[in-house]
Amino acid sequence: MNKNSLDAVVDYYGAGDESSRLRTGWFQIEQARTQELILRHLPPAPATVVDAGGGAGAYACWLAARGYQVHLIDPVPKHVELARAASSRQPQHPLASAQVGDARHLPHGDATADAVLLLGPLYHLIEREDRLACLKEAHRVLRPGGLVWGAGISRFASLLDSLSGGFFDDPAFAPILARDLEEGQHRNSTGNPLYFTDAFFHRPGELSRDLLATAFQVVGIVAIEGPGWLARDFERLWNDPLQRERLLAVVRKVEREPSVLGASAHIMAIGRK
Ligand SMILES: C[S@@+](CC[C@H](N)C(=O)[O-])C[C@H]1O[C@@H](n2cnc3c(N)ncnc32)[C@H](O)[C@@H]1O
Repeated sequence: MNKNSLDAVVDYYGAGDESSRLRTGWFQIEQARTQELILRHLPPAPATVVDAGGGAGAYACWLAARGYQVHLIDPVPKHVELARAASSRQPQHPLASAQVGDARHLPHGDATADAVLLLGPLYHLIEREDRLACLKEAHRVLRPGGLVWGAGISRFASLLDSLSGGFFDDPAFAPILARDLEEGQHRNSTGNPLYFTDAFFHRPGELSRDLLATAFQVVGIVAIEGPGWLARDFERLWNDPLQRERLLAVVRKVEREPSVLGASAHIMAIGRK
């Protein structure tokens, strides 16, 4: 990633509100499933977690509240300020640290972490060599046996999102979608923030290939939302406890089904050092 594209990340998030995103719409299933997939493999507290690309601290503060020593880094100064503010609202369980940084150059020592979260950098880094640099850094800071969780956005997310979200027929979106499907390289020159910013959208196999290329064992390539994010009237289902559990149960049922993986908005790659 060159300086300009890091600037693009800072500009994009500077204009938005990452602190409330996970409480709205289908992002709620993203959050619930991400938490589930983290807890399924995370060693018991206290353990040391590096959240690289931790944004406004949603997962970092949640883990700190559960007794983990959590270090957050993010290149967006506004996110680091929001994470520090969220940390100060849980004085019994603050973050161990929160600082501006880049997942390709972690400030942490070798073999000092039990877990690394990369829930953002792998789709914002548009060059493969940068994504590999990020995974190599995660590998360096992990203790032997430590785990990395890397989130990718599916190559097919734009297609599904535009169909279900009602903007498939926007002529400005058509070339974005065409390039996403052809190359996985997402570029948004429309100025419409709903169409995201520069990113790389993965095929599931590309995530496992990159884990293996950086000396991780593949623990799992798992759908985060599965097809659940596409539910018509998502809020109604999510706000009904019975339907929410049914939705989560069917997503769990197909979470590793290769023929459905690409229908998830996000795919989690879990690797062990
Ligand atoms: C959609 S947000 C996700 C935030 C949070 N991890 C979550 O899952 O809700 C993506 C995050 O990745 C961060 N990011 C982008 N490029 C990065 C890089 N090179 N190193 C670390 N973080 C990066 C962004 O600043 C942003 O906070």
